[in-house]
Amino acid sequence: MTQSATPPIPNRQAIPNRQAGFDRLRQLAERPDGRRITPLFAAEPDRAARFTAFFDDLSLDFSKSAIDDTALETLFALAETADLTGFRQRLFAGQPVNQTEHRAAMHMALRAPADAGLKAVMASGDQVRTEDAAAMAAAERDKMRRFVEAVHSGAQKGATGKTFTDVLTIGIGGSDLGPKVATEALTIGRFDQKMNAHFLSNVDGSAFLETTRGLDPARTLVLVASKTFTTLETAMNAAAARAWIVAALGDKAVASHFAALSTNLKAVAAFGIKPDRVFAFQDWVGGRYSLWSPVGLVIPLAAGWDKFQQMLDGAWAMDCHFRDTPLRQNLPVLLGLVGIWNTNALGCATQCILAYDDRLRRLPAHLQQLEMESNGKHVMLPDAAGVSRPTPWDTCPVLFGEPGTNAQHSFMQLVHQGTRTVPVDFILAANADHDRPDAHRALAANAFAQAEALMRGRSEAEIRAEMATHGASPAEIDAIAPHRVAVGERPSNTIMFNRLDPFSVGRLIALYEHKVAVQGCLWGIDSFDQWGVELGKQLASGILPELTPHAERKDHPDAAKGGHDSSTTALIQRFLTLRGDA
Ligand code: F6P
Repeated sequence: MTQSATPPIPNRQAIPNRQAGFDRLRQLAERPDGRRITPLFAAEPDRAARFTAFFDDLSLDFSKSAIDDTALETLFALAETADLTGFRQRLFAGQPVNQTEHRAAMHMALRAPADAGLKAVMASGDQVRTEDAAAMAAAERDKMRRFVEAVHSGAQKGATGKTFTDVLTIGIGGSDLGPKVATEALTIGRFDQKMNAHFLSNVDGSAFLETTRGLDPARTLVLVASKTFTTLETAMNAAAARAWIVAALGDKAVASHFAALSTNLKAVAAFGIKPDRVFAFQDWVGGRYSLWSPVGLVIPLAAGWDKFQQMLDGAWAMDCHFRDTPLRQNLPVLLGLVGIWNTNALGCATQCILAYDDRLRRLPAHLQQLEMESNGKHVMLPDAAGVSRPTPWDTCPVLFGEPGTNAQHSFMQLVHQGTRTVPVDFILAANADHDRPDAHRALAANAFAQAEALMRGRSEAEIRAEMATHGASPAEIDAIAPHRVAVGERPSNTIMFNRLDPFSVGRLIALYEHKVAVQGCLWGIDSFDQWGVELGKQLASGILPELTPHAERKDHPDAAKGGHDSSTTALIQRFLTLRGDA
């Protein structure tokens, strides 16, 4: 539906109001003991209960943070100043909250029932278009389901008449990480895997060789996942995969072996993929929110349709929780506010993600993109006068992580004893899906112990006493004891749920999606664009012809352009010399 109207003006807040809130947070952290956690536990026996929020079996324990009642009230006041409630309404009303691209951020429609009534309002100039996003997504989901069932039943076969056993997904960033984490979470260790899933993202030719090694082209279905269908890495890998299929099975095989997942139907057609093999989604889905869309087609192909649907149901349950629950009991809101405290009151520049579940081993990589591409911004949305100014406060921390317990044997040393405070999110399921309960108990014991150790630390007095008991000399105690001190008072959240099933996977990822939206709202930035990645892409496309062998340069008019700084010029020259192309 297209109509002419003035686009709604979202979320314009005067900076000074917010600045006072951020200033107050910093002042609270500067109080004596303002950064300490253990005194809060000592003062309040039921702290854990009061600082744990629940959504069914899913709990968020944020008690191991230096947030007391005053700090929590200040965070809620800041949320009010930033009009978080209004922002949440605009998000679910499908307003163009992605203001720099005039787009809604309506990924929730991908997991909502068809009749949920979720709309997306897209503004262009003075034109405003409203789409029934949930209905559109459901129609495409039906098409996906029919395709998945046809592949599984063998109705859709490869060019030589063999059924598909393997699915190779080519995509990068949001067109890779979300589908990968979900596919692994829904298939690793479970025995009813329907197809083998393979992922190719990096343009590095070794990645192509490694991913296709041992794959039988006759039994491989290739999915090209790209929202824009213009991404260099994906285009080059798709061309390589096409050549690989053609070399083995001939030109005609492309039609039966390829499918595309994109918003750019023109470019897909130009690649030669037929419309019935194209699964579309719309601009109101950001790349890093697209695993729920056709971009996630590999998930039901590998894990089965029912599990995919259950994952969508879990995400939708979290959407409804976020939309309908008062801020004080709202998990994404609380998770977001704790992060604001760590970043803006304590000045932490990092956030560690430790999922004590090997099936979530790619979760940190997905959350890196989700959080850092969404909230790695330094300019605020337009103020009341329509001016976009730099944020006077810090925004997204640097995320990193590994599965627990592996992380404990690598970087956790720094988290316990380094000079900087690194907040940690511990994530674990109470019940495992294997027959080694002892292993799962060991996993959980380590998660709980790490969180406790970070908070409690170990004092020099304790260490001295222990060393003396073990017969160490006073000189040795003086020299060694300080090295063994762990200062403690280091914050963490613990996110726990019953079991890592498809429903809880969906719920968990959606929890972080909405946390990102909450933080973006408080920081006053656009969480849904990603302009920062454009410059590198532009420069790379300029440099590419300069790296072209001498003999082929006449085909590349840009090749001799140069105009780089002396370091880049020298690096290019050295590269060409080492390759014998100078
Ligand atoms: O360069 C960043 C980015 O645009 C991400 O936002 C996106 O997820 C990724 O590249 C891949 O983009 P596409 O799906 O359009 O190929």
